[in-house]
Amino acid sequence: MHNSGIIRDGDTMQISVIGTGYIGSVTGACLAEMGHTIIFVGRDKKKLDIIRAGDSPIFEPGLGNLIRKNRDLIETTIDMGYAVEKTELTFICVGTPPNEDGSSDLSQIREVSRTIGKVLGSDNKFHTIITKSTVLPGTIENVIIPILEKESGKKACIDFGIASNPEFLKEGTAVDDFFHTDRVVIGVNDSNTGHILEKLYRPLNVPIFTTSLRTSEMIKFASNAFLATKISFANEIGNLCKELGIDSYDVFEGVGLDTRINPKFFRSGIGFGGSCFPKDVNALIAYAKSKGITPRILNSVIETNNDQPHRMVALLKNHLDPKGRTIGVLGLAFKPDTDDIRESRALPVITMLLEEGANVKVYDPVAMTNFKKICPDLMYAASASEVMDSDAILIVTEWDEFNNLDYTGKLVIDGRRIDKARKEAAVYEGVCW
Ligand code: UDX
Repeated sequence: MHNSGIIRDGDTMQISVIGTGYIGSVTGACLAEMGHTIIFVGRDKKKLDIIRAGDSPIFEPGLGNLIRKNRDLIETTIDMGYAVEKTELTFICVGTPPNEDGSSDLSQIREVSRTIGKVLGSDNKFHTIITKSTVLPGTIENVIIPILEKESGKKACIDFGIASNPEFLKEGTAVDDFFHTDRVVIGVNDSNTGHILEKLYRPLNVPIFTTSLRTSEMIKFASNAFLATKISFANEIGNLCKELGIDSYDVFEGVGLDTRINPKFFRSGIGFGGSCFPKDVNALIAYAKSKGITPRILNSVIETNNDQPHRMVALLKNHLDPKGRTIGVLGLAFKPDTDDIRESRALPVITMLLEEGANVKVYDPVAMTNFKKICPDLMYAASASEVMDSDAILIVTEWDEFNNLDYTGKLVIDGRRIDKARKEAAVYEGVCW
């Protein structure tokens, strides 16, 4: 069972968490582990039933245990008004999906703000609203506060608290990331709300950085944009390494030893996916453009990322014409330890293979159900070893179990650096090494 190492100090709060996706369910469960009373608010009754039954509504290692362990502190409801009224802190953890132009769709944020605002109007205690959803700088001041003030007839930072508190949780290690984060970022425009949030997070014993609302909102975007930039940079140098017969992993091991640079997020290959990096970088690009600024670096980050799957298929075609052949794809999730396929590199790779006329056989330990919804007509293998009789094997996600397969005699194009394949395959090509 997960042990957060948190000592409950007896001074606990009543907290409502709006949204039961990744951010909401992890945040709520971890706050319960810290001893606080949590009311989860969601629209999806099935997810709420799962939480009520003491299980995790999403695939996330350790989360089910945490919810089960803290069941007595957890309540669920579809009634947001009830939850807000019964609590003193409300975390907004709803989605901000991308619009077609890359900007963020704030409709859920607006709807939630209206409901909270209505309750605040008749709430006699000091209530603090915390935005964990990723929103562009200025959104809290220009969108959320005006709605809350209009609906409640009260003044932000005086009659109620408002904070930005971005999350830095990685899917697959989110529970651990919550308790052992490098830093907690708190954005507030008044010191009273700052103190409330600092008190909440003090038991984590991690650095707390308190700043203004819009600075905090920007820290989230700048962090994700920088990490995405690091990956695209590693991929660009990696593409060059490939041409020169240099191993990009050795290069970035050497580069990363410089403490000014650090070795993390330098794994080159087929690029980044997921619900955050592509969405957040594109949102920042759209925002910069709306302000008359050309985001040259960010544009290149996306361009490089979009190119990597093409490089993988091009490498395959150096060895075999995919037309009419069976090509095996190992991994569909955007990274291991998740069933999330949002922006997974598997989709562009498989789309290209199908365009080339290949028969595509795929396997992923947990993401096949999700992938079937968008690509129903592939051959879905029951195990990884079933994929191994394909004419070529493409590695798209670095699941641990792919390090136990027998690659002897195989043609492998590796987008994620699976060592066993590198050592055993008859023909082996790393995308950047
Ligand atoms: C990310 C951020 O890390 C987290 O702080 C933020 O709050 C949410 O977004 P997540 O999307 O869950 O987390 O996964 P992450 O581990 O960051 O990986 C994102 C993508 O980048 C994956 O597709 C992964 O395979 C890829 N990646 C990561 C690389 O290609 N190379 C690397 O070195 C690291």
